[in-house]
Amino acid sequence: MERELCISKEAIQQRVLELAEQITSDYAGEEPILIGILNGAVFFFSDLMRAISIPTKMDFVRASSYGSRMASSGIIRMTKDIEIPIAGKPVVLVEDIVDSGLTLSYLKEKFEQRGASSLKICALIDKLERKEKDVFVDYCGFQIQEGFLVGYGLDCNEEYRYLPEIYRLK
Ligand code: IMP
Ligand code: MG
Repeated sequence: MERELCISKEAIQQRVLELAEQITSDYAGEEPILIGILNGAVFFFSDLMRAISIPTKMDFVRASSYGSRMASSGIIRMTKDIEIPIAGKPVVLVEDIVDSGLTLSYLKEKFEQRGASSLKICALIDKLERKEKDVFVDYCGFQIQEGFLVGYGLDCNEEYRYLPEIYRLK
């Protein structure tokens, strides 16, 4: 598939550092649990966590709303749960890209029910065109109006994740 460069490697790195700085200062004196949403968020998650200079813990969840097509089915399933108890702990959900908002609003509600002391959302990209649920992204890397993006962990049918920068498929 043809693609055009959307976010360069340098721009990603720069923005990840800025988000990490913000999280570092907002959570000073705490030890937030970062929950990465597999698989797309892995590179973002590991770059972000290593750039945060306070202690953090990591866990991962896998949810899927996408079949093999480029549009959401609307049905969210959690196919892998976290393993660290989060009751009474500050949690930051780390996502690659927010599209309809269904995945994050589902996960946010789930983890709030388990008694996290606070729950914030950090997403590398917030895609605006197709919002169905209003989810507030506390830490947002980039806002993008539209298009299907790949690279830096983001895939289309499991392809393109390895690319170091982010592209828009044409
Ligand atoms: P939502 O539930 O519609 O917000 O879907 C979010 C999930 O869909 C993300 O975690 C991604 O895995 C996937 N997704 C949405 N838009 C894109 C895109 O442009 N490229 C790659 N994956 C996407
Ligand atoms: Mg995802």
